[in-house]
Amino acid sequence: METRVLSGRELAQKVLEEAKRKVEKYVSCGRRSPGLAVILVGDDPASRIYVSKKHETCGKVGIRSFSYEFPENVGFDEIAECIHALNERDDVDGILVQLPLPERLRDRTNELINMIHPAKDVDGFHPYNVGLLAIGDNRGIKPCTPKGVMLLLDHYGIDVEGRDVVMVGASNIVGKPMALMLINRMATVSVCHIKTRCVSHFTKDADIVISATGVPHLIKKDMVKEGAVLIDVGISRVNGRVVGDVDFDGVMGHASAVTPVPGGVGPMTVAMLIENTLECYERREGLLNSN
Ligand code: GUN
Repeated sequence: METRVLSGRELAQKVLEEAKRKVEKYVSCGRRSPGLAVILVGDDPASRIYVSKKHETCGKVGIRSFSYEFPENVGFDEIAECIHALNERDDVDGILVQLPLPERLRDRTNELINMIHPAKDVDGFHPYNVGLLAIGDNRGIKPCTPKGVMLLLDHYGIDVEGRDVVMVGASNIVGKPMALMLINRMATVSVCHIKTRCVSHFTKDADIVISATGVPHLIKKDMVKEGAVLIDVGISRVNGRVVGDVDFDGVMGHASAVTPVPGGVGPMTVAMLIENTLECYERREGLLNSN
């Protein structure tokens, strides 16, 4: 069987071009530029790379980005004060706290996210936005990675309605919101996680497998049926090489479609962050209807 490689690069580029066009239109009418504030705590090298990509992409589309960096030993209250100040700023439309936080602050992640004003929650992690997603109300802000996966599936004409989908990974960032979006689109969804006894028991009959674990090459040919669609959200480094959760070479000729790593879901996540920031700006500026 021929395996389609579902690139996210061109699609993400199209989303960014559209965002740039809109920003230029607003600015040429005399409006201010949209603004995104990114909070980074500690020195995690992967987080630093992701955050610099976010700033770089903002620059490309004309969104102002504001960087707030704190050392690993920062006090909780100092980050909280930063969020409160950003909530009040007229020139800041989106606020995100890069995750994961350093170990010392990790169990207070939700407390910080809850402080972000829901209208500026460009990650869609605030309980208000999570709640809207859970009840199938489209007015909330949706988390970037699952939103990017849905757009990728739609773009390549892969309909999830009535399909059996397995989500491997149950994080608040990807697995749980992804499952909700799929249910809202009438897929039949199973969610596997760290305590799942036999992941292949679920994946072997699935039409679509989405993996977001960070375990290199977890998903192998013998775990999925012929013709399955494999969406790889994982990203790890093995011997200096970036690899995904899916054994890409092994599933070639067996799966009907697979996303590459890098160049698959990754670029979509950043593009969705830009789209969300622009949407928050448009809502705050009264340029959109509320529904
Ligand atoms: N860490 C990994 N993915 C994400 C994301 O989408 N948003 C934030 N804030 N942190 C992340």
